[in-house]
Amino acid sequence: MKIVIIGSGGRLGAALTREYRDKFDVVGFNHAQLDLTNFEQVREKVTALDFGVLINCAAFTNVDLCETQRDQAFQINAEAPRVLAEICREKKAKLIHFSTDYVFDGEKRELYKEDDVAKPISFYGESKREGEKLVLQANDRHLVVRVSWVFGPDRPSFIDGVIKRARENEHVEAIADKISTPTYTRDIAQMLLKVVAAPNAFGADRGKARASNPGYVDSYSGILHFANAGECSWQEYAQFSLDCCRSLGIPLKAKTVGALKLSDMKNWIARRPVYSVLSTTKYIAITGSTPRGWRDAVGDYVREFVPR
Ligand SMILES: NC(=O)c1ccc[n+]([C@@H]2O[C@H](COP(=O)([O-])OP(=O)(O)OC[C@H]3O[C@@H](n4cnc5c(N)ncnc54)[C@H](OP(=O)(O)O)[C@@H]3O)[C@@H](O)[C@H]2O)c1
Repeated sequence: MKIVIIGSGGRLGAALTREYRDKFDVVGFNHAQLDLTNFEQVREKVTALDFGVLINCAAFTNVDLCETQRDQAFQINAEAPRVLAEICREKKAKLIHFSTDYVFDGEKRELYKEDDVAKPISFYGESKREGEKLVLQANDRHLVVRVSWVFGPDRPSFIDGVIKRARENEHVEAIADKISTPTYTRDIAQMLLKVVAAPNAFGADRGKARASNPGYVDSYSGILHFANAGECSWQEYAQFSLDCCRSLGIPLKAKTVGALKLSDMKNWIARRPVYSVLSTTKYIAITGSTPRGWRDAVGDYVREFVPR
């Protein structure tokens, strides 16, 4: 199977490129190689390729900048995915497009399911929600995968920032009243493989899709949530990360993480959902597999990638 990965220089795109390189014929495009704001270039370069699956990990992910650079955010997070979805439809290929827990307003305070109403409270969330809709309007056999609080070795994220601060300072703080689930890029890669391989994932269309394009992947369509299991605040996430470091003998100045409130973050421009835990019930039903807990994933990451 031939796979194209767009955003292969980012945290998730780089991880998927590495995890899939040995299993599939993978072509990756980083930002310098393909600019999603240049639709003509995108059409030209992507149409010229032969592939069965295109995975779009590229996005304008700076939530605050999205508020002030709305046109660019909309182009990258909404219009470009539509262009990719149309190209894939024309080529009878599958688009797997990544989206976010920030499409929800966070008021539910219970696990968010795929069919819960998306009511973004930031322009980032709004542009990503529009991207989801445009992708599925172009072809309802495409797949949108929402993820939350992504971490991994290919680009620093919250966990790396907190460990760095704890190495340098005796006191560190993190927000205690915002809840979701840290999710490891390596686990996302494994989960996606399970969906693609799931026997019941393509239903009656499986034969038809295969017949019309031998490269077409059997996989679920519509919206799907991926997350490690469990939930926590940023403060708990930070504290557990420091505890992992300490148990491995990684020297830190700070031992405990103090509590901040979302309302303390005066410099933030965009609003963020207070609660955005994604339910993986649908993923479990499709694959018969349960994601491991976020603590196991964070523990593995610290053990393997945090310098001693
Ligand atoms: N990180 C999270 O916690 C999180 C949470 C929920 C959902 N997600 C979603 O997960 C997906 C992957 O995110 P990530 O964590 O891997 O983010 P990331 O590390 O910021 O990666 C995004 C990639 O997109 C590229 N990009 C930005 N503008 C582009 C453009 N005009 N043309 C081509 N490429 C462009 C970036 O390149 P440059 O850096 O060179 O600009 C970067 O390599 C995104 O859809 C994101 O919305 C992430």
